[in-house]
Amino acid sequence: MEQDGFAARGAEAAAPLVLPQPERLTLPDGAVEVWMLDDAQVDPACARLAHTLAPDERARALAYRHARHCNGYIARRGLLRWLLGGYLRCAPEELLFAVSAFGRPVLQWPQARLAFSVSHTDGIALLAFARACRLGVDVERRTGGLDAPGLGHGVFSAVEARTLARSRSDPTETLLRLWTRKEALLKALGTGLAGDPTAYSTHDDGRRGAGHWRASHHGAAICGWTCLDLDAGAAFRAALAVSLPDASVTCHRCAVPDPPRNTLRYT
Ligand SMILES: CC(C)(COP(=O)(O)OP(=O)(O)OC[C@H]1O[C@@H](n2cnc3c(N)ncnc32)[C@H](O)[C@@H]1OP(=O)(O)O)[C@@H](O)C(=O)NCCC(=O)NCCS
Repeated sequence: MEQDGFAARGAEAAAPLVLPQPERLTLPDGAVEVWMLDDAQVDPACARLAHTLAPDERARALAYRHARHCNGYIARRGLLRWLLGGYLRCAPEELLFAVSAFGRPVLQWPQARLAFSVSHTDGIALLAFARACRLGVDVERRTGGLDAPGLGHGVFSAVEARTLARSRSDPTETLLRLWTRKEALLKALGTGLAGDPTAYSTHDDGRRGAGHWRASHHGAAICGWTCLDLDAGAAFRAALAVSLPDASVTCHRCAVPDPPRNTLRYT
């Protein structure tokens, strides 16, 4: 792949990539759209989208030591530009980003009340979009043998630490559930893990059903949010938090050309 003098390093043969037509993208108020990019689509996404990146994004991509990480960043940022351009009806390369004090990318142009959040782990990337709200998404690979108490230290609240301590049968799964929920919430709030993550707790929301959760700050409920676990496939755990009540959340895969099975609607 070579475009505009900027190439993805070590790009392999293309796997099927399905990009939505920008003019068909819609994002109504109260809706959250989540897009999933498997690692198998990273190289074709690079080939299609690398030319849309700005010079600082190209420099960041080339600073990665491994081609896999370089290409992953190009694909994520290219897809982010493609989808934002579609929702905002402008060319992907026209978008201007700034970075918040906590490292969060924010739209500088066009000035639009469109929230987005990106997360990636070995194997998959998730990109979420919604209007006029705070939005966070997180995905982690399911891995055995994690040091559950060690990883949660300084991140989990006392309530979450107790939940983790009680989960004798599958502490790793509990850790990942708590972790993805916490990170989705903190990314929506914009601080990430900076600040005091232990001040926030996430809890199962039995009233709304399996996969729904709610959040609190120093024990006070955070109201008017939709908080969900997402189905990103058996190898991953994922969660989403959005400051919209009863948001309608839809997940799409940028993969196999089979639209009906590529979309999963939650609410
Ligand atoms: C946000 C954070 C939790 C993400 O951690 P992670 O699990 O390693 O990474 P994820 O794949 O889930 O998310 C990465 C994405 O989160 C976004 N992001 C970065 N900082 C963010 C923040 N403060 N709030 C929301 N989103 C953020 C970026 O889009 C990033 O994607 P990119 O790498 O393609 O640019 C972590 O980076 C963090 O705590 N950052 C804040 C700490 C801080 O203040 N850093 C100073 C940096 S200037």
